[in-house]
Amino acid sequence: MTKINKRRVEEFIRVDHAGERGAVKIYEGQLLALNTFVKDENLKKTIEEMKVHEKEHCEFFENEIKKRNIKPTKFLPLWDLLGVGLGFGSTLLGKKAAMLCTASVEEVIDEHYLNQINQLDKSEKDLKKKISKFRQDEIDHKDIAYNEGATKKGPYLLLDKIIKTGSRIAINISEKI
Ligand SMILES: [Fe+2]
Ligand SMILES: [Fe+2]
Repeated sequence: MTKINKRRVEEFIRVDHAGERGAVKIYEGQLLALNTFVKDENLKKTIEEMKVHEKEHCEFFENEIKKRNIKPTKFLPLWDLLGVGLGFGSTLLGKKAAMLCTASVEEVIDEHYLNQINQLDKSEKDLKKKISKFRQDEIDHKDIAYNEGATKKGPYLLLDKIIKTGSRIAINISEKI
């Protein structure tokens, strides 16, 4: 069996770092809305809990970036801005849109992480284990989002498509640049 090449692993870590940081930013944007224009203490609590996981995920990749001397994506400032904007905007639209935002992103990430897990071999055993654990956290977030009212009915389907397309574009860019 051939060993997964180092450059590919670096791409994985670069994009995962960007994605997990983006997740933190989305939740920050949502909490910003919930601390200003939108009053919903339950939603706030749910989001705060999920944000704790995203911070843990992000810190892991932050550490890997330093340890392996990988360049983070050049687009971090843009993803930060778009992440906060997406979180803030979706929450202003209401709880269903806020939760759909989580569900849509997590559906893309679930698939993205599975794809990486399938490519990682024994030479990256620890990384594979971490990504598998994080993937399970993301699946849990997706389930929470649907339980809390995420829906793809009517106009929400368009929102789902926009968020997914945007996330996939961000993933493709962040792997390479
Ligand atoms: Fe995450
Ligand atoms: Fe998540």
